Amino acid sequence: METLLVNNILQMKEINKNWKKSDTIVGLVPTMGALHNGHASLIKKAKEMCNKVVVSIFVNPIQFGPNEDYDKYPRSIEKDKILCNELGVDVIFSPTPIEMYGENVILSNNELSFVCPPYSIVDCMCGKSRPGHFDGVATVVTKLFNIVKPDYAFFGQKDAQQLFIIKKFVKDLNMDVKIIPCPIIRDVDGLALSSRNTYLSENERKIALTIPKSLKEIKNLYLSGIIDTGILFDTAISILDKNIELDYLEFRDFNTFKKVDKVKENTLVAIAAKVGKTRLIDNEIL
Ligand code: PAJ
Repeated sequence: METLLVNNILQMKEINKNWKKSDTIVGLVPTMGALHNGHASLIKKAKEMCNKVVVSIFVNPIQFGPNEDYDKYPRSIEKDKILCNELGVDVIFSPTPIEMYGENVILSNNELSFVCPPYSIVDCMCGKSRPGHFDGVATVVTKLFNIVKPDYAFFGQKDAQQLFIIKKFVKDLNMDVKIIPCPIIRDVDGLALSSRNTYLSENERKIALTIPKSLKEIKNLYLSGIIDTGILFDTAISILDKNIELDYLEFRDFNTFKKVDKVKENTLVAIAAKVGKTRLIDNEIL
């Protein structure tokens, strides 16, 4: 069956109602489109676990800051549709911003109810340089859950802070959806796949490659017994290209999201950095 493209919230709810008449297990893969193999891995996992798979494609305006790349963000719905078809996706849910938020809300966020996860986990790392970002993510993901009503929703570990926050509000707000984390997919050269990689010039890509290289070295040092974050931090800095503008390199317990001085199993090592104008993130869970 060809993938169905749905732009309308009511139609999506109707489809779900029909599916639920026969105990269908529904999976949702939320995305902002410009799909690549990272997204494809989430879709494949969803196909394995669910009878029906919905991929949402929505560049969510309320998670972008005023000086960020909302307008420039790559959009390729025709290509995305072909990939979804090949992967056997049942429905692409791709509403317009007005369908999701109404005309007034786009003009002023003051008109909208937000889902606000605790400050301790939204005000750090990516949230520090992107104020309001994770409230925007939590709000749109909650809306998508309410519209699609999935049994399972699939998120990449590439966005580790996002994944942690989503798991947290789903638990705190007793939502009936199970969050399935999926591993980071990398290009052959080691760069974590991202829709934003298309912004990089050839030279910038070479510079960007020192990000996964530094993470790999941290992992190797950890496996050889070095657990002091000071030493691991300095090693990573010595590997990162001098033209990279580091936003953060942090070590956090991935169970609690608290910073750690000594790394151990399940420590998240996360980097965000700007290469030219492009902001990239990557991480390793030890
Ligand atoms: P987007 O950046 O399109 O990512 C959609 C999903 O794909 C996220 O769960 C992300 O972690 C995952 N993903 C991206 N690159 C990946 C990679 N290289 N390997 C594995 N998974 C990868 O994240 C968002 O969209 C938005 O914030 C969203 C959750 C859709 C809310 O608007």
